Amino acid sequence: MPEVATIILAAGKGTRMKSDLTKVLHPLSGVPMLSYPIDLSVKGIGSEKTIVVIGHQADLIRETFKHAQVQFVLQEEPLGTGHAVLQALPLLDGFKGTVLILYGDVPLVKPETLKFFIQTFHQNESTLSVLTAVVKDPSGYGRIIRNAEGWLERIVEEKDATEEERLIREINTGLFCIRAPFLFEGLKQINRDNAQGEYYLTDLVEIARRMNLRCSAHMVADPLEVMGINTRWDLSKAHEILYQEKARELMSSGVTILDPKTTYIEREVEIGRDTVIYPYCFLQGKTRIGEHCVIESNSKISDSWIGDGVTIRSNSIITESRIEDRAIIGPFAHLRPQSEIKSNAKIGNFVEVKKSVIGRGSKANHLAYIGDSFIGEEVNIGAGTITCNYDGFEKHPTIIGNRVFVGSNVELVAPVKVGDHATIGAGTTVTQNVPEGALAISRVKQRNIPGWRKKMEGRQKKKEG
Ligand code: UD1
Ligand code: MG
Repeated sequence: MPEVATIILAAGKGTRMKSDLTKVLHPLSGVPMLSYPIDLSVKGIGSEKTIVVIGHQADLIRETFKHAQVQFVLQEEPLGTGHAVLQALPLLDGFKGTVLILYGDVPLVKPETLKFFIQTFHQNESTLSVLTAVVKDPSGYGRIIRNAEGWLERIVEEKDATEEERLIREINTGLFCIRAPFLFEGLKQINRDNAQGEYYLTDLVEIARRMNLRCSAHMVADPLEVMGINTRWDLSKAHEILYQEKARELMSSGVTILDPKTTYIEREVEIGRDTVIYPYCFLQGKTRIGEHCVIESNSKISDSWIGDGVTIRSNSIITESRIEDRAIIGPFAHLRPQSEIKSNAKIGNFVEVKKSVIGRGSKANHLAYIGDSFIGEEVNIGAGTITCNYDGFEKHPTIIGNRVFVGSNVELVAPVKVGDHATIGAGTTVTQNVPEGALAISRVKQRNIPGWRKKMEGRQKKKEG
């Protein structure tokens, strides 16, 4: 492919989002919307250069994409698409190839579509080519005016269009291929002499035609691919499309998704073969799930690593955690960041784990809180066990050795250590370290008072008598 440099227009505020956050930073399937055109340019078509024109919340955008292979230019005032492109030109000094214009708020374009667009642009020997779509409702868009041979003559903005022109349903998606030398020359000639008082990039078409240069219009097959995100409704439509695409891609690689309509798997999630995903699961961020796992309904897994043969029962929430092979989690489990569940371990219902390691084959089957703890192998944690990790000022660790038996309703007041093979009696409040193999028990000795019930009933009768 000939040399391509890409300019991404992203200086607009996105007023219709009604948001404190600039539009192109709104998350779309787990990554900011602007990541899509950036990826298209950098990875999709391998552009020489990617220049992003920013304005609203420019610093936040720069910070968000500080590791991306892009250059930013500031457009101080949003004076129109032509003005935005003009700001990028100093960074293209001496460039003689093809300039591709993308929009920061048009995220669903496929790399193949762009490659085909660029290829036909060259085959047609055009100076400028616009990507177009035929839509049911063209309102708000620039309309495409072709000549008798089908070449592009003009693009007219809705506000400047005649009644007749407004009937045209072929619209400007905003994406262009332009030969760099003409772009430099043509931009000098555009003015703000139009209904919106803006510098229109689209005016380049008439300028090229006046110079007798060829302009073409390349129609996409699927208008959804070039949809622009202007409102939160559009954002939800884009999500719908992306979730379906992701589900389809995973299914074709051997993942079972029982109901793709109600399964929400973000762009960067990886899932191995023969894993089964039940409905209403949210799999987010940089989550990686191995092979032969089962993820039951209503589970939300974010930025976590899950091995092979793991079962996540319904209604579990897992965040920034690691779960190794054949572990069983849930139902109703909550793994908070930095939890590490080793192989064959079990975390059952209403168990919360935070920043802790649960050793191989260990079990916390019911109702427990384990925080800032290191638990060895084959440990049993009884129902109602609580690691008291916080003294109101600081967090402290609980360390439990291998094959320890912790009875029900135990409090471990951290910092505390329990040696290998120790046993903690039910109801114990552990405040001191427990040596290896010992029994720790702190409950009050039980006393039985014989005949208590009869005595009480006798007293009651006397009162009534
Ligand atoms: C533009 C096109 C229109 C097309 C439509 C497709 C022009 C004159 N009109 O109209 O033909 O059908 O897009 O959605 O080009 N931007 C800047 N700086 C600016 C102005 C815009 O960076 O000064 C960016 C915006 O952030 C956005 C894109 O350019 O990503 C389009 O801007 P927008 O204001 O939506 O243009 P429209 O008027 O919709
Ligand atoms: Mg727009």
